[in-house]
Amino acid sequence: MAKKNVLILGGGMIVHDQILPSLYHLQRMGEIGKISVCARHTTPLKSLQESPTIKEAFPEQVFEPFPPLDTPEDKYYPELYKEAIKTLSPRQCVFIALPDHLHYPAIMEALDHEQHVICVKPLVQTYKQLVEIEKIAKEKRLFIGVEYHKRFDIRSLLARKNYQKGLFGEFVIGEAKMIEPYYYRHSNFQNWFTCDISDPFTYVGCHYVDLVAFITGLKPVSVSVVGIKKAFPNGNVGYLWSHGRVTYENGGILSVINGLGYPDIGGGSNQQGLELYFENEDSTATLRHDDQFRGVSYSIKEELTEPKKKFYTINTDYFRLVPWNGPGLRPVGYGYTSIEELMRCVERIDSVDDRQKQLEEIERIDNLGIIATPKNSFYNELINEAGRLSIEQKGRVYSVNYNAEFPTVYPD
Ligand SMILES: NC(=O)c1ccc[n+]([C@@H]2O[C@H](COP(=O)([O-])OP(=O)(O)OC[C@H]3O[C@@H](n4cnc5c(N)ncnc54)[C@H](O)[C@@H]3O)[C@@H](O)[C@H]2O)c1
Repeated sequence: MAKKNVLILGGGMIVHDQILPSLYHLQRMGEIGKISVCARHTTPLKSLQESPTIKEAFPEQVFEPFPPLDTPEDKYYPELYKEAIKTLSPRQCVFIALPDHLHYPAIMEALDHEQHVICVKPLVQTYKQLVEIEKIAKEKRLFIGVEYHKRFDIRSLLARKNYQKGLFGEFVIGEAKMIEPYYYRHSNFQNWFTCDISDPFTYVGCHYVDLVAFITGLKPVSVSVVGIKKAFPNGNVGYLWSHGRVTYENGGILSVINGLGYPDIGGGSNQQGLELYFENEDSTATLRHDDQFRGVSYSIKEELTEPKKKFYTINTDYFRLVPWNGPGLRPVGYGYTSIEELMRCVERIDSVDDRQKQLEEIERIDNLGIIATPKNSFYNELINEAGRLSIEQKGRVYSVNYNAEFPTVYPD
């Protein structure tokens, strides 16, 4: 059977750092067909095509760019992704890495043209949108997968296995943090990360809200989020710090702190981690993941990155390009595994022609719950909706009514 062609929509940071190198490797291993990338204009596409990091790892590979690279850089084509999707024959794969608010129209366009979809988190911004796309995808036996790569960190998978075996007991309380670097404030973030659009809880806190559900199997049921507003260098005001308190269906509580403020001179590329406590009959148990310091640090002669520093703590687990028994470098880590697993879902669904068997495969993926799909990770959309309402109302508690025919969020 012909291998799937993949069209990536968006050409930004996550495409450069994780998605394109992962897909190039899968292409090199014969697991996928042609790769194309569509952005609004040529600047990001040129950066990707000429990236020294990507060239070093994949010296012989290129993608087809939309628009073509000889298009003037000041010409913008915000609707071009629709034309790019039309170039695919049915049942290929559209990999969406656009800004959050464009996920929904792009997914709808892809489904309309009979394409499987893989999308970075958050899938969409409302539960209503999620229900709509899930229904269409099921009718057409198309895959929708959400790229929550932290699920593929070995420590998360191990925690899930051991929680399900009962080694910890019942989740009772925990804390998580993810503090992104201060320098984000000087980046494009300052143009869109304003109070009316986003906040640290919904932008990055969602990873740990999802992870605790992934590990324990418990759905989050209510949330209170407070934010601290500060001005970006350009004067725009955003919530630059947030604290969320999430309650899970068994009454367990997760405290989540987030921000754009990890010091630029700090050794890590951010600060992140998770600590959970569990209750047993006459004892307690605990789990602690230091997701920032993975035990590797460098003091080196030359600065590796902007902002400049000479001491680094290296996350060897997320995504690295390393020497291997082949040309260039190969990707390793859970960032790669996640994309490999998602692409394999697309392959498996279409490995049979039988409509019923295709549906059964989609349902198998939903029920297994390893890969995030609309069916098994819909609570993320609901909690994000609730979180946005809560932060706008200074921490008012919002809950999810899962028992209603159509779950909704409401003020408690
Ligand atoms: N840990 C994670 O899971 C993770 C990490 C980073 C980003 N993300 C998600 O990935 C998405 C992209 O984030 P990023 O950091 O790469 O952003 P970015 O701003 O670096 O890149 C966005 C890209 O989209 C392109 N784009 C914008 N409008 C477009 C249009 N109409 N048509 C075609 N291209 C268009 C831009 O040209 C740019 O290349 C976001 O949804 C973000 O939440 C997830």
